[in-house]
Amino acid sequence: MSEPAADLFAAARAARAHAYAPYSGFAVGAAVRGASGRVYAGCNVENAAYPAGTCAEAGAIAAAVAAGERRIVEALVTADSDEPVTPCGACRQRLREFASDDSPVHSAGAAGVVATFHLGDLLPRSFGPQHLPNAIREIDP
Ligand code: THU
Repeated sequence: MSEPAADLFAAARAARAHAYAPYSGFAVGAAVRGASGRVYAGCNVENAAYPAGTCAEAGAIAAAVAAGERRIVEALVTADSDEPVTPCGACRQRLREFASDDSPVHSAGAAGVVATFHLGDLLPRSFGPQHLPNAIREIDP
């Protein structure tokens, strides 16, 4: 049987190899699958002004949106840690904007996926676009 989310894993690991994490030393890679099926990856990019650093998931989501995606159907985050890494709280919210409660979120170590969650379990009863019914959803590019 093939590795679950093998393409997401490969893309996230490749991005992780370029992580810029001189302050934490904790390199992270992430990948998301858009509704088109295409995969987008990102890595964490830290900053001397610590709060200005960005997570790997944020980079992957930004790449997907920049390519025209508006739905994320699956995500994966990978790091080399004893405890399987899961998206931070802010990144759960970032994913929630484009994904669904039943979207799989995989956690992977160096060798592959070690755990899979549903976004709705990682961020239950979340705040989302449905709470802003009068929002302008899209602007013409
Ligand atoms: N980090 C991520 O990129 N994604 C996560 O889901 C958890 C944390 C990064 C942020 C920071 O650069 C480093 O890991 C340590 O927190």
